[in-house]
Amino acid sequence: MSIEKATKTHLVTIESAGQHEGAEVTLRGWLYNLRESGKLLFPIFRDGTGLMQGVVSQKENPAAFEALRGLTQESSVIVSGRVRAEPRAPGGYELAVSEVEVVQRVPENDPYPIQLKEHGVDFLLDRRHLWIRTPRQAAILRIRAEAIRAAREYMDDQGYILTDTPIFTPAACEGTTTLFEVQYIDEQKAYLTQSGQLYLEATAAALGKVYCFGPTFRAEKSKTRRHLTEFWMLEPEAAYAHLEDMMALGEGLVSHMVQSVLKNRARELETLKRDTSKLAGVKPPFPRITYDEAVETLQKRGNPAKWGDDFGGDEETILSSQFDRPVIVHRYPAAIKAFYMQPDPERRELALGFDTLAPEGYGEIIGGGERIADYDLLVRRLRENNLPEEAFQWYLDLRRYGSVPHAGFGLGLERTVAWICGTEHIREVIPFPRMIYRVYP
Ligand code: 4AD
Ligand code: MG
Repeated sequence: MSIEKATKTHLVTIESAGQHEGAEVTLRGWLYNLRESGKLLFPIFRDGTGLMQGVVSQKENPAAFEALRGLTQESSVIVSGRVRAEPRAPGGYELAVSEVEVVQRVPENDPYPIQLKEHGVDFLLDRRHLWIRTPRQAAILRIRAEAIRAAREYMDDQGYILTDTPIFTPAACEGTTTLFEVQYIDEQKAYLTQSGQLYLEATAAALGKVYCFGPTFRAEKSKTRRHLTEFWMLEPEAAYAHLEDMMALGEGLVSHMVQSVLKNRARELETLKRDTSKLAGVKPPFPRITYDEAVETLQKRGNPAKWGDDFGGDEETILSSQFDRPVIVHRYPAAIKAFYMQPDPERRELALGFDTLAPEGYGEIIGGGERIADYDLLVRRLRENNLPEEAFQWYLDLRRYGSVPHAGFGLGLERTVAWICGTEHIREVIPFPRMIYRVYP
């Protein structure tokens, strides 16, 4: 049987095999595992959509039996057989194998390095290009894809226009300590983007409601389970929008992502043994507390936080543990927030900014707020933050020519997906994680 022939027969994916009960089908994939029991073989195949157990009898199918006997893990195979219900098999169906074509046989003397046992995480990260084949990792990546699809769908449905922002930038957006500097052409310096926000403020003035969704870079020197040096951020920005509008948009976006994964990736969540009862109630409205109230809560719980402190992982975990859905903390002290944040007119020491904290200790998934629209105030803030005014002239133009109140936020994709999946560390939810000590593979 050739690949060409297989595509002309009843080619199915494992995910959909159950719909072909009783029929003869062909699967294309890999040998995930093989159990030999005398004159019977029980291979488990995977094809990227799931796992399916097969059964082959030496007596009935000697050729298929010989092809599979002793076949090494992860050898690629095209198999045909009849689908039958088998309640004890993973997925509820098994394949009575009749034909097998080995596409590539993994050599016996160089076996697949990841065995079906526990391995250390560094061992697995060094082999991330292979690790992603395991059912758990594949399920996570399928959930990530659904979260992205749902996020785009939500933004598009809300009338936001996708405007892609540059990756090479001339200046910092989120503080100079996490900037990645790169040598640009002819002695020029550039930095990898920390956020598309400043450019979105320009496209928002051109198009009204906009968003970007792309890779973001931060030279994070700390080794935590919430930080990557390269991650994906979805950032909306809207002209004439205020803090309240963005808190509502963020809760709608997060809820739609969670509900879409629950609906369309139930099998994958089951593979991860995720307690989905903790996600089912993630719907608007999210609870909202002020920074002042947050500090009070922390102190009541014995945390040493004082007014004016920024919150770290521990504080975020305490705050979010009181709620069954994400909590929005708003109006932080301006001094601990970025240079572009609009001060609260009622209390100038506060910024009209907010963070959305995920439950179960996953921390900040969204940060955003209202931007300074006034030219003089923005110039003052640039100076106070020792930022190079020349590099920001184009940004100041937005306050010279038709400045309007505007607001936006950034949602960290990996933190959101890590929470939805219930993974311990966010490194598992991106195909190839980039961290302080890791850029391989
Ligand atoms: O709070 P941040 O720094 O906000 C901004 O960059 C704004 N300019 C966004 C905007 O208003 N357009 O980052 C936004 C989110 C965080 O809430 C977090 O979820 C995620 O990005 N994030 C990270 N995720 C993984 N690894 C890191 N090192 C991250 N740093 C931020
Ligand atoms: Mg933040």
